[in-house]
Amino acid sequence: MAIEWTPDLSVGVELIDEQHKIWFEKANGLFEAGKERKAREYINTMIDFLDDYTKQHFKDEEAYMEKIRYPEIEAQKKAHASFINDLAKLKSDYNESGGNILVIINANKMVINWLTKHIKTMDKKIGEYAKTL
Ligand SMILES: [Fe+2]
Repeated sequence: MAIEWTPDLSVGVELIDEQHKIWFEKANGLFEAGKERKAREYINTMIDFLDDYTKQHFKDEEAYMEKIRYPEIEAQKKAHASFINDLAKLKSDYNESGGNILVIINANKMVINWLTKHIKTMDKKIGEYAKTL
């Protein structure tokens, strides 16, 4: 399943939208590497890229929410922390499996569903709130 940012995922805040696009690209990079059955070191590098970018993005998004005094910031922080845990678990599951590529391929759906659902249900509300200011 290819991963793409589509305009219906627009939150209406440029910084967030631009980062979401790159975020999808990083996730794509990991799953393409999985499909191509790249070596374990390579997969780990791609997981780290996704992980680093996710953390940076959440940090920036949370800073933006603080700046506009977004009322539902705590729920967002919780959701973000939980996804960071999911990624850490993916990395440890992969390495504990001895580098079984199926662990990566099977995680594709989980990650994509999370990203799209989080953006549609939670991040869009940030944009809606920003518009009322
Ligand atoms: Fe978020």
